Amino acid sequence: MVKTIEWVHGRVRMLDQSKLPLKVSYVICKDYRKVAEGIKKLWIRGAPAIGIAAAMGAALGAQKIKAKNFDEFFKALQPVFKDILSTRPTAVNIEWANNRMKNLLTANKNLTVPQLKALLIKEAKEILKEDIEINKAIGKWGERFIKNGDVIITHCNAGALATGGYGTATGPIRMAVQRGKKIKVIADETRPVLQGARLTAWELMKDKIPVTLIPDNTAGALMQRGEINLAIVGTDRTARNGDVANKIGTYPLAVLCKEHGIPFYVAAPLSSIDFSIPSGKFIPIEERDSKEVTNVFSCRIAPHGVKARNIAFDVTPAKYITAIITEKGAFKPKDLYKLQKNNINLDKIRVKH
Ligand code: MRU
Repeated sequence: MVKTIEWVHGRVRMLDQSKLPLKVSYVICKDYRKVAEGIKKLWIRGAPAIGIAAAMGAALGAQKIKAKNFDEFFKALQPVFKDILSTRPTAVNIEWANNRMKNLLTANKNLTVPQLKALLIKEAKEILKEDIEINKAIGKWGERFIKNGDVIITHCNAGALATGGYGTATGPIRMAVQRGKKIKVIADETRPVLQGARLTAWELMKDKIPVTLIPDNTAGALMQRGEINLAIVGTDRTARNGDVANKIGTYPLAVLCKEHGIPFYVAAPLSSIDFSIPSGKFIPIEERDSKEVTNVFSCRIAPHGVKARNIAFDVTPAKYITAIITEKGAFKPKDLYKLQKNNINLDKIRVKH
């Protein structure tokens, strides 16, 4: 399976997804600023993948710090966390990764600076490893909702490329295929950056999972014809009430699913759930350069001087979501907040297939 990001000999190596599928090339980052640039320019993208990149970026930034003790080291690392956090606002995973690294450091104040630097590298590698396991667990829980013969629509890319590997929304799909179910995937092309056309189609074809590409505006017609019977998408940030921010176009897809009685699932690792916000209204939504709308790659497709909006994510209200599939099981959006509690019997609130 394709490797999105890796720690190799003291550097961060990332697949440059902005060039896919035309060119498979890698960027070697020797400096954390290069990692931050990669997140901003979508060389690496997808909520879990940018969380891993943030952790590796912090570990990379740490190596160059000259400090005599914990306090100096921790202080010098703050601008690194800040720069990485400022790259993209919607996915909660960058903040999550920063907090995990910060908490690890404060729990190990007694270590020497070289030991702290080594600890950060170890943790970043661990986050990558864990992420793949989490996606497989999402796959295991989500696969139960997929029947032999299902045609599953997905939006954007919440696949191996958007994660450490295996994918969140593609987790249940891959698991279903592994378990011998004959399924088909419909990939929305996902204007304007075309993650569905460029990335989801590419990675599923590479892994021989049947995939058909459609323009975003075709989903309704296929649903009317009864040619789609399930939807699974990813999320960048899910609020405590189960509202989900994901790639622009997810909300209209969910509304269409409701209209046609098609179950709409969201695959969400716990790291992308922001329990600190009560609803989707509080999710910061990234707005990107309008050039991504007026140009496709370097080709201009709109008149010079036209105004264009490029809102990168939308919020799907919880009422449209059948269940949220996490590594701990699938849950109704209304029960999501209960996952915060330690002594909850998860079996009582898991959605049965
Ligand atoms: O702008 P992108 O490509 O980073 O947007 C990615 C998505 O919207 C994904 O669906 C989301 O991050 C979930 S990835 C497992």
